[in-house]
Amino acid sequence: MNSLFSLENKIALVSGAGRGTGRAIALMLAQAGADLAVASRTADQLEETADLVRKQGRKALAVPADVRDSAQVRNLVDRTLEEYGRIDILVNNAGSGTITETLETTEKLFDAMIRIDLKAAFLCTQAVAEAMMRQKGGSIVNIASTEGLRAAPTNGIYGAAKAGVISLTQTLAAELGQYQIRVNTVAPGFIETAFPASLEIPRLRDLFARVPLGRAVKSEEIAAAVLYFASDAAGCTTGALLVVDGGVATRLA
Ligand SMILES: NC(=O)c1ccc[n+]([C@@H]2O[C@H](COP(=O)([O-])OP(=O)(O)OC[C@H]3O[C@@H](n4cnc5c(N)ncnc54)[C@H](OP(=O)(O)O)[C@@H]3O)[C@@H](O)[C@H]2O)c1
Repeated sequence: MNSLFSLENKIALVSGAGRGTGRAIALMLAQAGADLAVASRTADQLEETADLVRKQGRKALAVPADVRDSAQVRNLVDRTLEEYGRIDILVNNAGSGTITETLETTEKLFDAMIRIDLKAAFLCTQAVAEAMMRQKGGSIVNIASTEGLRAAPTNGIYGAAKAGVISLTQTLAAELGQYQIRVNTVAPGFIETAFPASLEIPRLRDLFARVPLGRAVKSEEIAAAVLYFASDAAGCTTGALLVVDGGVATRLA
C-alpha cells in the first residue's frame, strides 16, 4: 500500500462496528495496518468483527458499549488506552435511522434520534480528544448522511441530527487544529447493506432511478473514504465533507 494511506502503528477506535458499515470500516483500517478497538452493544456481533480483524493479522479489542451513555463511553476509551496506550483514529459510525413524518415524531423518538445520531458522536469525541490532545495529533471521522445536507422527508429528525454532526465537525476542526487533530465527515447516500432488496420496493425503485450511478453504495466504498480521512493522505484536510452517494446530491442540489 502507498505509504500515505498506510495506518501502520496506528490505533483506531470504531463505534457501531458490530455489523454493516462499521464492520467494513474496521476491516479496511485493519487492512491498512491499524490495530483496532471496536464498540457496539451486541457482544457476539462485535466478537465476530474482532475475529475478522485478527484474521488480518492486526490486534482487536472488543468493548461492548452503548455510545449514548457517557459512563460507557468513558469506560470504552479507558479500556482502549489501557490496551494500546494511545488512540490515533476515532470513527463515529454508530447511528440509526427511522421512517416517520417529521411532525408525527414523538418527543421520545426525537430524543432517541438525537442521542444516537448526534450526542453519541459528541460523547466519543469529547472522551477521545483528551488523549489526542496529549498526543498532539489524531484523526476523527464522523459518519453523517446525505439526509443532513438537504430536506429529508420522513427522516426529518435524523436529517437534523446528521446536519448537527456536520456542523460539529466544522467547529471541532477549527478548535482542534492547534493540536494537529483533524475532524472530517463522510456523508453516505443509500448503503447497500441497509437496502439489499431495495429494487423490490416501488418507492425505493423510484429513488434509485434518480441515482446517477444507478446503485446503492457498497459499505467498502464508505470505508475507503474513511481510510482517506484517517490516513496521512488527508494530512492537511480538516473540516471537510466527502459525499459518497452515487451522485444523488448532484440531482437534488
Ligand atoms: N444504511 C444507510 O443507507 C445509511 C445511509 C447514510 C448514512 N448512514 C449512517 O451510516 C452509519 C452506519 O449505518 P449502517 O446502515 O451500517 O447501520 P447498521 O447496519 O444498523 O449498524 C449500526 C451499528 O451501530 C451499532 N449501534 C447502534 N446503536 C448503538 C449504540 N447506542 N451504541 C453502540 N453501538 C450502536 C449497531 O450495533 P448494536 O445495535 O448491537 O449496538 C451496529 O453495529 C450510521 O451512522 C448511519 O446513520 C447509513
